[in-house]
Amino acid sequence: MIFDSGLGGLLFYNQIKRIIPYSNYFYVFDNIGFPYGNKDKNYIINRIIKIINNICKLSKIDLIIIACNTASILTLSKLRNLLNYPIIGVLPAIQMATKLTKNNHICLLATNNTIYSTYIGNIINKLSYKYKITLIPSMQLVYLAEKILQGYYLLNLPLYKIFTTWKNNSKETPDTIILGCTHFSLFTLNLLHILKKKIIIDSNIITINFILNFIKKNINYNQNSKFTCDKAYCVSLTKKTKNLSIILQHYGFESLNIINI
Ligand code: DGL
Repeated sequence: MIFDSGLGGLLFYNQIKRIIPYSNYFYVFDNIGFPYGNKDKNYIINRIIKIINNICKLSKIDLIIIACNTASILTLSKLRNLLNYPIIGVLPAIQMATKLTKNNHICLLATNNTIYSTYIGNIINKLSYKYKITLIPSMQLVYLAEKILQGYYLLNLPLYKIFTTWKNNSKETPDTIILGCTHFSLFTLNLLHILKKKIIIDSNIITINFILNFIKKNINYNQNSKFTCDKAYCVSLTKKTKNLSIILQHYGFESLNIINI
């Protein structure tokens, strides 16, 4: 089961399904709570726990993937205490950035809730003896990415405004940028285009590789099964979400269903 606030987690689904096609996948998104990055933390935590609990009642689940940095930061340890399933969540790849940066100046691009979380605050404090970490919260990019995943075509990305002054790699500008929000993978090429000499770390890719290794080692999935049936779940079938059915079919889901919370 793959969970995200919106459609960003489909980037996980696409990659994992490509390598492990003969498993059944549930894609679960909280279309009423979206976006999580700027909402009250307790509101988000309660919703996620209810949603995941209810999905676990529907069918036997081999692995829960929290494909949302904001959700992972807020709920990963709580979910692990509550549920007896393997749970893997995406988190901003800060360790990887410390290995790759040459000027020891890193940037984390993520949602407000991720940027201002105790989790990130603690990591920054631990690393402050050697690394400078510039934090950039952006909810605007979350909304834009969600639109792109829903098939809209967009011009004038705010990325250009944010990053055009960062072309050089002096001490004043980070040389390594962590994409710390699932949705931001969509902007990797734009960032490479603007910031040619910088290192872009996509936290999704690191987590997806970890998940694939985990599945291959720990889950007895059927490699020969001919029929799979992937289902998408949302919290409420609003008119706007109903229109997503066609998009979700294109991604590979046979139906869009409701999960009550
Ligand atoms: N997918 C979420 C994340 O990785 C961002 C979207 C949201 O704000 O809900 O943080």
